[in-house]
Amino acid sequence: MKLGFSLALAAAAMLALGSASAQQPIVIKFSHVVALDTPKGKGAEYFKKLAEERTKGRVKVEVYPNSQLYKDGEEMEALQLGSVQMLAPSVAKFGPLGVREFEVFDLPYIFATYADLHKVTDGPVGKLLFQKLESKGIVGLAFWDNGFKDFSANKALKLPGDAKGLKMRIQSSNVLEAEIRALNGLPQKMAFSEVYQGLQTGVVDGTENPPSNFYTQKMHEVQKYLTMTDHGVIEYAVIVNKKFWDGLPADIRATLEGAMKDATKFADDIAKKENDDALEAVKKSGKTQVIVLSADEKAAWKKALVVVHQEQESRIGKDIIQAVYKETGFKP
Ligand code: LMR
Repeated sequence: MKLGFSLALAAAAMLALGSASAQQPIVIKFSHVVALDTPKGKGAEYFKKLAEERTKGRVKVEVYPNSQLYKDGEEMEALQLGSVQMLAPSVAKFGPLGVREFEVFDLPYIFATYADLHKVTDGPVGKLLFQKLESKGIVGLAFWDNGFKDFSANKALKLPGDAKGLKMRIQSSNVLEAEIRALNGLPQKMAFSEVYQGLQTGVVDGTENPPSNFYTQKMHEVQKYLTMTDHGVIEYAVIVNKKFWDGLPADIRATLEGAMKDATKFADDIAKKENDDALEAVKKSGKTQVIVLSADEKAAWKKALVVVHQEQESRIGKDIIQAVYKETGFKP
């Protein structure tokens, strides 16, 4: 009798174990550095929703917003080590990885509209850039939009000369370093999560952001002026650890590719409105004066900054710059 009972017990335990391991979801840790109520924040949550629904729970996406898990400067290495599976860093942050060509996106005024930007992200140049990630153990899945960057400071920046001598926070991009130097400013590379405190304490005097980042990081509380220069873009590359991605069951990978495609459309469809709404909220706060430039004033900023294009040819490559010019019809 006893033997029969213990055999039954062992069989039940094996069954439970077997079914438990069969139910273990594949976990995707998705880390990013912005607030939830931003184009990237909402895009990540939407991807999570689609991925979990469409794989019927076989995949679990854990989203870690606002630098909770890794801040920029740490996240790329964490991805390569496999400590995190998915990121969506700004394209300005691939220089330290050794893929300098991504900094073509940082060239001032190289994109005039979202449509120009999509000719690159959805075309051969975007594909070429993603190919360059493979040797780094990274797969590029999609590009997500945010918006056009505007300069902010605690002094009114009406014309390029007004930025002279200001310590300006930038992302970890040498093209952006050259951009600030072209204004006779002092570029300071700094993690996004440290910008508010840097502005509050005066470690930096100003910075550049699309309105959605400026507002959701509460920079209107510590910046008196925001000048609508629209001099560059914040664009994201959604990337995964290559070993993880290639190791997925083919059906799961195909389902996730579909979820990413739909999440990309969702993120891009909301990006402009998110930035427009954030700009209205900044104005409504009454804490930051928004400076709208005349056509002549904007032309003066462009004239002062497009010198960076030729200056950076040796760093990012003349071919990739010319390829973007060809796709967008850019005129200096
Ligand atoms: C920044 O560092 O300013 C941006 O890359 C942050 C972000 O991810 O939008």
